[in-house]
Amino acid sequence: MPLGHLAVIGGTGLNDLSDLDITGQEKVTTPYGEASAPLVRGRLADKPLVFLARHGEGHRIPPHAINYRANIQALKQAGVQAVIAVAAVGGIREDMVPGSVALPDQIIDYSWGRSHSFYDGSDGGLEHIEFDPPYDESLRQSLLDAAVQAGIDLIPDGTYGCTQGPRLETAAEIRRMRQDGCDIVGMTGMPEAALAREAGLAYACLAVNVNWAAGLGAPGEGIHDQIQQALETGMDKARQLLRAICR
Ligand code: HPA
Repeated sequence: MPLGHLAVIGGTGLNDLSDLDITGQEKVTTPYGEASAPLVRGRLADKPLVFLARHGEGHRIPPHAINYRANIQALKQAGVQAVIAVAAVGGIREDMVPGSVALPDQIIDYSWGRSHSFYDGSDGGLEHIEFDPPYDESLRQSLLDAAVQAGIDLIPDGTYGCTQGPRLETAAEIRRMRQDGCDIVGMTGMPEAALAREAGLAYACLAVNVNWAAGLGAPGEGIHDQIQQALETGMDKARQLLRAICR
């Protein structure tokens, strides 16, 4: 697939793209307010790319307080056509081992109170967008192909359950999410994915498993200890994948 103008939204563990040859930065204001951070323009493996730090410079904006509408609108205004969202998640399904990377194909949204649509009734516009499949299949396929070509393990599916945060879940909440069909749990996948669809941007998520979800890790092993260990390995794979898809 020709990727069009590509953007990467980086989350926890990927607040910048160290191998991006930066050519410029722009602070973008939108009708919905300011994006989390200035858009960073550059080249990755010689392909033009825009990078946006989801949690802002210095990682200061919590998941429920991110201005998702401003972020997606800023990318749209910058001429972006495709978005790869990188997100740290907790693993629920057995193969979602800390340090592995998955390409989810479904979403269940448990978040609440977020400005989740551009159609907020303010200007009379309304469209009931189709949101299945929630991720862009063609962009997902490009990422799968890039992973094969670069020899990087990428789990090809998974249902992303988006919780409100910023607290982590209880073991009972994770048991319920597993019964619902969730394979991974994170806090930022929604409304980002739906807003991208409303804005007409192709959107896929690289989900980096950084811990076992609550109640699933080894007894006595804290979630934060696991994150310390898995974040670097997982984000390293995500960076490799991003380079591979740009080649
Ligand atoms: N739960 C929710 N969000 C997360 C987790 C988790 O266990 N790990 C990383 N982001």
